[in-house]
Amino acid sequence: MSPPTPWVITGAAGFLGSYIVPRLLERGTPVVAIDDFSCGREEYLEPYALNPNFTLTRLDIRDTAGLSALFELHRPAAVVHLAALHFIPACMADPPRTVSVNVHGTQSVLSAARAAGVERFWFTSTGDIYVPDEKPHHETRSKVGPFNIYGLSKLLGEQLTALESRERPNAAFVVGRLFNLYGPRETNPHFLPELLKQLRAAPEAVLRLGNLWPKRDMVPVADAASAVIDALEAAPPGMTTLNVATGVAVTMQQILDLIGELRGSPLPIETDPSKVRSVERPHLQADVGELKRLIGWTPHIDLRRGIAELLAAEMAPF
Ligand SMILES: NC(=O)c1ccc[n+]([C@@H]2O[C@H](COP(=O)([O-])OP(=O)(O)OC[C@H]3O[C@@H](n4cnc5c(N)ncnc54)[C@H](O)[C@@H]3O)[C@@H](O)[C@H]2O)c1
Repeated sequence: MSPPTPWVITGAAGFLGSYIVPRLLERGTPVVAIDDFSCGREEYLEPYALNPNFTLTRLDIRDTAGLSALFELHRPAAVVHLAALHFIPACMADPPRTVSVNVHGTQSVLSAARAAGVERFWFTSTGDIYVPDEKPHHETRSKVGPFNIYGLSKLLGEQLTALESRERPNAAFVVGRLFNLYGPRETNPHFLPELLKQLRAAPEAVLRLGNLWPKRDMVPVADAASAVIDALEAAPPGMTTLNVATGVAVTMQQILDLIGELRGSPLPIETDPSKVRSVERPHLQADVGELKRLIGWTPHIDLRRGIAELLAAEMAPF
């Protein structure tokens, strides 16, 4: 029997990648991990270093020759393309790099995948491409209209993926629009890692945070990892666009209240003007009907349990 064909994961050492890699290895799928470690951490992948089904290559996805050689060597069955510049303030501070990594980098991965005859391709997009709305965003019924360079770079990545799918109609291409992932090992200084960092440094001090009123659709990262794998396997040939979210929106204040409840005392908070974003989307929530239809998706962890697990992992003893 021939050995199973590997999956390539770009951005494997990042937050989401570090959950997808073990899921694949546990079920016997070999993994070819790629990362330039600009944001991801090598230590997240150290536990798999001795696994014969795992290889890790330090590579910038914009290195088209290096990427093509790697794809040619491994002839992967599937690609999960996660590598990107992702933290919105960092993207806004460096638009040329954002476009270079998120757009040029995506084309580089698509081209290497085509040359190696890859049959299944996942492009990681974001809920941030939708025009702000109080209603849950639907993949086709809601308008897209990004208002920052990150969202625009992801929309361009979606369009490159769609173009590729038209040229390769027998392969399956999935655009997954992720909403707000949370869980242990987050790499970027989003709301929750920033909050936990302050709590670790001074558990009783007043927390200095940005806006608490925005509503977000918070997805446990471990569930998102399963959804990516299952949806990529289930997708039919052609182009599939999916929201990866819970379908429920909560305010940042609700999350703080929950943390206060779990630790047995409310969190003292004050607004830090330097953390208040000048342009902030008030409400981000997904319609998850498509993902349900494709893989019977329901996120397994509710917010209380997810936050409790995050606190246990990153704040112990809490
Ligand atoms: N975390 C979220 O809430 C969220 C929400 C929506 C979309 N996304 C998208 O999901 C994907 C994964 O997000 P994440 O939270 O794991 O982010 P992350 O920053 O932890 O992971 C991205 C990884 O890509 C790597 N990388 C960056 N530039 C690279 C390059 N030029 N070559 C090779 N590797 C490179 C980084 O080192 C990092 O390990 C990203 O595409 C992100 O835009 C994430």
